[in-house]
Parts: sequence; C-alpha cells; structure tokens
Amino acid sequence: MTKNAEHLAPEAIAILGLGSMGRAILAGLLAPESGLRSSIRVTNTSAAKAAEFDGHDSVTAFATELDAAANADAVRGAKVVIAAVKPWQITELLAEISDVLEPDAVVVSVAAGVTTASMEAVLPASVAVIRAMPNTPALVRKGVTGLSAGSRASTSQLELVKVLFSSVGKVVVVHEEQLDDLGALSGSGPAYVFYFIEQLMASAMSRGFSKEDARTLVLDTFAGAAELLAASGEEPAELRRRVTSPNGTTERAIEVFDRADLAEIFDEALTAAVSRSKELAAEN
Ligand SMILES: NC(=O)c1ccc[n+]([C@@H]2O[C@H](COP(=O)([O-])OP(=O)(O)OC[C@H]3O[C@@H](n4cnc5c(N)ncnc54)[C@H](OP(=O)(O)O)[C@@H]3O)[C@@H](O)[C@H]2O)c1
Repeated sequence: MTKNAEHLAPEAIAILGLGSMGRAILAGLLAPESGLRSSIRVTNTSAAKAAEFDGHDSVTAFATELDAAANADAVRGAKVVIAAVKPWQITELLAEISDVLEPDAVVVSVAAGVTTASMEAVLPASVAVIRAMPNTPALVRKGVTGLSAGSRASTSQLELVKVLFSSVGKVVVVHEEQLDDLGALSGSGPAYVFYFIEQLMASAMSRGFSKEDARTLVLDTFAGAAELLAASGEEPAELRRRVTSPNGTTERAIEVFDRADLAEIFDEALTAAVSRSKELAAEN
C-alpha cells in the first residue's frame, strides 16, 4: 500500500456521513499501514460526533446541526469526496455541494442502489462519479470493495479510488449492472456471517457451552476455515469433502443442510437484497 502513498498525499479527502460505513473507511485510511498522508474532512449531523475529533491531527470534523454549510465547507478543495449517507439522502447531499466542488473532483458514493447516471445528473459536468460498495470489515482493513466508474471518471481517477479503498482491504472493479449483486453478496455479507455465527452460538449454548466458549468455538471455526481455504487455494467443496467421511458425523449434518436446500435459500436471500436495492434506487 505504501508504495502508492505518493498518489494520496496531495489529495484532501472528504467523507460526508460518518456512520457505520463512513467510520469503517476512515479507520482504514487512518491506519498507519495505509500510507495516507492526506488530511481528511468528515461530516455528520450531530455536534457530539464531530466533537470526538477535536484536536485530531489529520481529521477535521463538521456537523450540520452546528453549521448548515458543513458539507460544503468539508468538500472545498477536496479531490476525493466520499458520500456515505443513506441512499435516499444522496441526491439532496450532492445538490448541496455541487456548486463548491473542485472542477476535477471525484465523488465516490457508497450508497446502495443509487446509479452513477442519477448522481452525474445533479453534479457539474466536469465532476466524475464512482460507485463503491465496501463492507464493514474495512474497519479492520479486511474489507472487500466493489468499484464501478461512471461515464466521466478517468482511468487515473478510478486508479486513485482503487488505491484509497485498497487501504481498507481488497478491491474488485465491476460493471455497474453487477454492483447490486455485489452489494447483496459482500456489502450485506458480513451480516449473513454474523447471523450464522449467532445461530451456531445459540445452538452451542443450548448444549451447555458457556457463551465465552461458544464464541471461541464458533468464531475460530469460521475464521480458521476461511483462512485455511484462502491459504490452500483449494475449492471449498474439496475441503468440505476432506472433513466429511462417508457415513460419518459431518455427513449427517450436511444432509440436514441439503434437505433445507441451502442453495435455494441463499439465492432467495440475495434476490431479496438486490430487489430492495433497486427499490431504493427508484425512491431516490
Ligand atoms: N453499513 C454497511 O455495511 C454498508 C455497506 C455498503 C454500503 N453502505 C452504504 O453506506 C451508506 C451509509 O450507511 P451506514 O450504514 O453507514 O448508515 P448510518 O450508520 O446511518 O450513517 C449515516 C451517517 O450519515 C450522517 N448524515 C445524515 N445526514 C447527513 C447530512 N445531511 N450531512 C452529513 N452527514 C449526514 C449521519 O449522521 P448522524 O448520525 O449524526 O445523524 C450518519 O453518521 C448507505 O448509503 C449504505 O447504502 C453501507
């Protein structure tokens, strides 16, 4: 990452909306390993949240409840503006900052469902738009971000945004049509994993394990299996086969999952998430 730090140094970055996602991105960018030497401006509604950054070396925080022009103040001079408010707030936010954006700024929206075309329509013609679909493991620099460039983004702007998001994990560049699917997969994905862990922990506790032991057993199984899969380069089905002896205990458990038709359940869940993303885009 640090080899790219010189790309980042001169670019002031603004993050508008410092909720779960804005904070995850900020935390990753502030980690020493990111090599980022740029100043970062952040905005929120609440003055209390802005006060958390009082005296911070590289973060300047603004609150709209203290200053109605907070977002405009934060983006002045910024080359990269990350919009991390709720999807239905994006158009209004962009209209609010449109007049004060740098002519060569790139606006990166993390909002689910909101298309680059709809954002380009409310911004000056010289301002580029890129959509990003990160996920919250960005907080621990283990995120996965999908990026998709709008019609006005140059290769170097896409490259710069790739470098930025690489500081919080891996980056995959996709066509915009694929971004809703990607969001349903990796954007919402951590919630699915937490849900599985929650359910398995409940099952463990119902068998008499303490909460602490249940957490260790389940969490470390997830983390260890994922690491083994990544390190081995094998197919998940192959690693599963190696743990599943014919007529053994694991096989019996897998049969239960198969009877519930997990493949169908996953597909249905992703379809539901994608269709909600399209509804959100329509509401915007
Ligand atoms: N969470 C995820 O895993 C995830 C994954 C991928 C993409 N996203 C996208 O990320 C975006 C944010 O989601 P989130 O989960 O982080 O939501 P969130 O926690 O509710 O954060 C939204 C933030 O925006 C701030 N805000 C609201 N109005 C504002 C305004 N006019 N100016 C400046 N800041 C304002 C809020 O500040 P106050 O709290 O002070 O009001 C809050 O900090 C959404 O568009 C979502 O689609 C989220």
